[in-house]
Amino acid sequence: MATHLPLYVCLISLIIPPFISTLAQSDNYIIHMDLSSMPKAFPSPHSWYLATIASILDNTKAPTTTAAATSTASKLIYGYGNAIHGFSASLSPSEIEAIKTSPGYVSSYRDMPVRVDTTHSSQFLGLNSVSGVWPVADYGRDIIIGLVNTGIWPESKSFDDDGMTKIPSRWKGECEIGTQFNSSMCNKKLIGARFFNKGLLAKFPNLTISVNSTRDTDGHGTHTASTAAGNYVEVVSYFGYASGTVRGIAPRARVAMYKALWDEGVYTSDILAAID
Ligand SMILES: *[C@@H]1O[C@H](CO)[C@@H](O)[C@H](O)[C@H]1NC(C)=O
Ligand SMILES: *[C@@H]1O[C@H](CO)[C@@H](O)[C@H](O)[C@H]1NC(C)=O
Ligand SMILES: *[C@@H]1O[C@H](CO)[C@@H](O)[C@H](O)[C@H]1NC(C)=O
Repeated sequence: MATHLPLYVCLISLIIPPFISTLAQSDNYIIHMDLSSMPKAFPSPHSWYLATIASILDNTKAPTTTAAATSTASKLIYGYGNAIHGFSASLSPSEIEAIKTSPGYVSSYRDMPVRVDTTHSSQFLGLNSVSGVWPVADYGRDIIIGLVNTGIWPESKSFDDDGMTKIPSRWKGECEIGTQFNSSMCNKKLIGARFFNKGLLAKFPNLTISVNSTRDTDGHGTHTASTAAGNYVEVVSYFGYASGTVRGIAPRARVAMYKALWDEGVYTSDILAAID
């Protein structure tokens, strides 16, 4: 693949007339970098990523140093340090081509819109409440389930913390406050809540985010979080049908919700930041 890429790039630049590339719009990219290639002079990966962007900017108007620094910082959307080493940035077609020749470049992907999908059931997983992994794992005790989704409706009874033990000291996550979401909304069941929309806003700078927090305005994240880890809720029914106790697959597990799927749009740069 890597050996074919330069030829492909070369063919494209031969075919496209030059005026198209000057009119072409910037787009957002996720750039995977090889951290072992970072020169020791850089104090952090973040400063290396900024320097990489600064080195490839279209500096046709010879901007001042301050203007160049501002435009470099405004191009960077996220630095990633766990899920991958690299960053996301808003780049013109010539800038992304220049990035591909930068030291430490591994690969790049255009930021893509994503659609929500749903979970499957305990039958799909082959779980049995009498024997096997389900009772052996004690229904998820000591497990923290991180979900990347549309957020969570913290008032749902599935996220009450009745019967939950105190939050383990190994937990390092946060309960981030935002629109209609304060720190009281986390408890011993819902232990983490964070939200990511900088990639979406980099794509559509004038977008209004209606609920800028981990609160779920769609329902899908609440559905998947309660399917995975919802606490026992007694005496429920579907309009009188199928009455009984509802619970998730792992009713003793904890939930950490990372909202990256917005009514206004979904981008891979935000999903990767949530995973990171
Ligand atoms: C959070 O919001 C709820 C509902 O609006 C309110 O009852 C509670 O006091 C708030 N907690 C904090 C810490 O502000
Ligand atoms: C965003 O809003 C600003 C200020 O109102 C305007 O100048 C700009 O053209 C808008 N950008 C887009 C992409 O609509
Ligand atoms: C959303 O909330 C975050 C964190 O409080 C803030 O930095 C950001 O500017 C907000 N975005 C919008 C679009 O209001």
